[in-house]
Amino acid sequence: MQGINKGERIEVMITADQLKVRIKELAEQINKDYEGTPLTIVCTLKGAIFFMTDLARELSPGLEIDFFKASSYGDGTVSSGKVELDMQPTFELKDRNILIIEDIIDSGHTIAFLRDFIAKNHHPASVKVVTLLDKPSRRAVEVPPCEYTGFSIPDEFVIGYGLDYAQKYRNLPFIGILRFEEDI
Ligand code: IMP
Ligand code: MG
Repeated sequence: MQGINKGERIEVMITADQLKVRIKELAEQINKDYEGTPLTIVCTLKGAIFFMTDLARELSPGLEIDFFKASSYGDGTVSSGKVELDMQPTFELKDRNILIIEDIIDSGHTIAFLRDFIAKNHHPASVKVVTLLDKPSRRAVEVPPCEYTGFSIPDEFVIGYGLDYAQKYRNLPFIGILRFEEDI
């Protein structure tokens, strides 16, 4: 389909139905692993919000939900590697079991920073990560593998279901590849 700007085209990579099925599977696994253990999820804004709300609806009750926001400043579609925290979680995370909810792991800079930040500043009982998407071929820093991954995808710039390009396209109900005229 046509994008919103001239020369942009969107190709569906993961349909809304595929997302639904996979998120249910992830939730089943998480519910099993945390059975009887209180869980606090910390969702990264803004990209992971659609994923978090669908995942959380499938998780066992008793769940606590908090947010943080990190930015890695860069131009266009490439991360600079310099990560800054714009918004902190509001809960006391000490001795809690934390599950960080991410939209996508690309270079690995953001998740490396967030894991480290939570561990050093909040002294939780445990920290795990669930990411909807992973682009393993793009790693610039070595990071431990995520405990839960929705889809491992090739090196494409993707949008939709929370993911943006210049703040647009987050509300698409599927994951799409954004192509620009020069590479069509
Ligand atoms: P990092 O490079 O692993 O630090 O990823 C940083 C952030 O860049 C992610 O949390 C996303 O917000 C964003 N990002 C990385 N790849 C994509 C993509 O393909 N589409 C949209 N955003 C992306
Ligand atoms: Mg993100």
